[in-house]
Amino acid sequence: MTEKKASRDIYVFSQYLNEVYRLYGLAGNQEIFTDKFRTYLKRMIVKLKDASFRDLEKYRNANCASNCLPGHSIRTALLAMGLAKELGLKESEITEVGVGALLHDIGKLFLPREILDKPCKLSEFEFEVIKSHSEIGFQVLRNESWLPGPCIEIVHNHHERLDGSGYPNHLCGDEIHQYERIVGVADVFDAMTSKRNYREALSYELAFQEIKKESPLLLDRQIVFVLGDLIKKYSYPKRELTERLEMRREICHYPCAE
Ligand SMILES: [Fe+2]
Repeated sequence: MTEKKASRDIYVFSQYLNEVYRLYGLAGNQEIFTDKFRTYLKRMIVKLKDASFRDLEKYRNANCASNCLPGHSIRTALLAMGLAKELGLKESEITEVGVGALLHDIGKLFLPREILDKPCKLSEFEFEVIKSHSEIGFQVLRNESWLPGPCIEIVHNHHERLDGSGYPNHLCGDEIHQYERIVGVADVFDAMTSKRNYREALSYELAFQEIKKESPLLLDRQIVFVLGDLIKKYSYPKRELTERLEMRREICHYPCAE
């Protein structure tokens, strides 16, 4: 997929999310997930099923309109679906993980922009406001019968942690469904490897080391292990990289018509 194409996908998806926000403001929680929105959500899942871990970078560099939420949601979905696939989940299960991941932060659309876009670290109060997004997202989606229940629960529980320190309901261990654990890992990884106004992005390797350090207590060990595998596969061995560069140089020697 080209960067331009990825950028277009993010732009269109972002427009749909913004439309949901606008309609919610106008009409309350009524008919906000239009047929068009649902159709586009399905299309995004199909695209993401075809994408690989390597496509994360294309989505990272693509322009994502005025906020980083759509880009983050799409990358989290791409990664979560990749993890689900590696873990051996069925097609239908991978789709549910993807839908939940695409919508996981939808509650943030209903929070004040000045807190979401604050260019420095948040105060304790502001952080509490941000933390309300998973409950808000759940309340917005809970009566949407077109959405499978597990997708709605991903939105509700993606910040729950194995030791009970997460939110909103301090679930522990097995109370956190596998889908929610997968999206939890993907969400943390994308947040750490994305640039923030107050810090630089971490490299994949460094983010993984940090996650691994915390994982026995907070995140699912097996899912973190699979993430490590994906990162290893993504990093070309040095020799392979040199060969690829050589190949590219050779190709460039020949005149070509675009
Ligand atoms: Fe979140």
